[in-house]
This record gives sequence, structure tokens and C-alpha cells, in this order.
Amino acid sequence: MTDTTDLALRVRPLAWTDLGRLAELEAALFADDAWSEATWWAELAARPRRDYVVAEWVPVAEGAARAPEAPAGPDDGSAAGAPRIAGYAGVDLAGDTADVMTVAVDAAYRGRGVGDLLLGRLIARAAAHGAGALLLEVRADNAPALALYRRHGFEQVSVRRRYYQPADVDALVLRRLLPDAAPRLDPGPNHGPGHEPSLEPTETSR
Ligand SMILES: CC(C)(COP(=O)(O)OP(=O)(O)OC[C@H]1O[C@@H](n2cnc3c(N)ncnc32)[C@H](O)[C@@H]1OP(=O)(O)O)[C@@H](O)C(=O)NCCC(=O)NCCS
Repeated sequence: MTDTTDLALRVRPLAWTDLGRLAELEAALFADDAWSEATWWAELAARPRRDYVVAEWVPVAEGAARAPEAPAGPDDGSAAGAPRIAGYAGVDLAGDTADVMTVAVDAAYRGRGVGDLLLGRLIARAAAHGAGALLLEVRADNAPALALYRRHGFEQVSVRRRYYQPADVDALVLRRLLPDAAPRLDPGPNHGPGHEPSLEPTETSR
């Protein structure tokens, strides 16, 4: 069994070299709705509006000093030497309201705070971008995701009844208001008196 004391979780921007692995993880995690490698290329090309990060286990010696929030490393026998993607997440930074595009953790690494770390990073990036709110859509029966989102201050703002078919499950639209992270030089086209941020997440988000 791997000695877990020499691994730390690092969050870094998504790179093109990750896309093959992400497509594999997608197929395992989202059977009915997996993003292909081609979709990931399109998402990467949409930077900086689309902003994705990956979480990976790396040896502490590589410079990723164990952050206070970093969970313990894997004890699944994986090699301590090679970075290993544990999860990924992304946000669409569009004006006043940002949208969570996806948050996903390899099933082998769940329940260790990886999702927590990724979502915290998305919130920080949206706030730093000047967004006033972060929206997402989640299946009403996705208990682990709901627990994660509620812990991070997301609250339900609407329901799309029977949105997921053929499972016939509602979609919940959740929102987290963001603190004013930094003064914005460019308020953007949607900013101004009387403008209400949209309560509809970006169509391609999940
Ligand atoms: C949702 C997901 C990202 C969470 O990742 P994770 O790394 O396991 O998350 P964390 O360890 O940070 O925390 C998970 C929370 O869910 C809880 N949880 C885990 N399994 C659970 C279950 N079966 N039922 C209810 N809650 C559960 C954990 O206890 C924790 O909440 P707590 O700290 O309040 O106790 C992960 O389960 C996942 O990738 N699921 C598949 C993809 C998905 O559904 N993404 C969200 C799309 S909207």
C-alpha cells in the first residue's frame, strides 16, 4: 500500500495534455452525457471565458506543500511518483453571473474533500473575476453534490420539473451570491441599475 504522507493535492489550470484522461473520466462518470475529447478541446479553446481546473495528487517533494485544506492522499496503491488526476471543475465567466459548468471527482477518490477543494477554487475564481453570483444546475437526487453545494452556501432559486429524462428527475437551480472580491474596471454589458442577473444556467452546463 502507498505511503499517503508523501502526496498532496494540487489544483492547477487545465492543460491540453489532460484532455484524453478527462474524456476517459467523463465516460466513467457521466455515462449518458459524457463530454468527448472534441468537446473538451472546444471548452479549452473558449478560455478565458471558460475556466477549468484539475486537482491532482503529486509528491509533496515536487513543491506542492501540503495546504491546510488538502485532504489526505490516496491509499489505493497508486504510484507516488506520477501526478494523477483526482477531479476537475470549470466555470463559465460571463458577466455578472458565472455558471458552474461541471464538478467531477474520480470515483476512487471521493469523500476526501477533492470536490470541496475544486468548488472552493471555482468560487474564488468567479469572485476574482468580479461575478456577483454563481449559478449551477443539479439533479434533485444527487445527494453528494447537493451536500457539497449547500456546504458552500448555494441556495435553491428554482426547479425545472422533470428536466432529466427518461429518469424523470427534477433539476434544481442553485445560486451562491459572491462577495465583491475586487473593484471592476469594466462593469460589462449586463451591469447597471435595474438589471437582474439571469437565473438560468448556461445551457451546456450540467
Ligand atoms: C459530487 C462530487 C463532485 C463530490 O466530490 P467529493 O470529492 O466526493 O466531495 P467531498 O469529499 O468534498 O464532499 C462530498 C460531500 O458529499 C457527502 N456525501 C458523499 N457521499 C454521499 C452520499 N452517498 N449521500 C449523501 N452525501 C454524500 C460527503 O459526506 C460530503 O459532505 P459533508 O462534508 O457535508 O459530509 C462527486 O461525488 C462526483 O464527482 N460525483 C459525480 C459527478 C457529479 O455528480 N457532479 C456534480 C454534477 S452537478
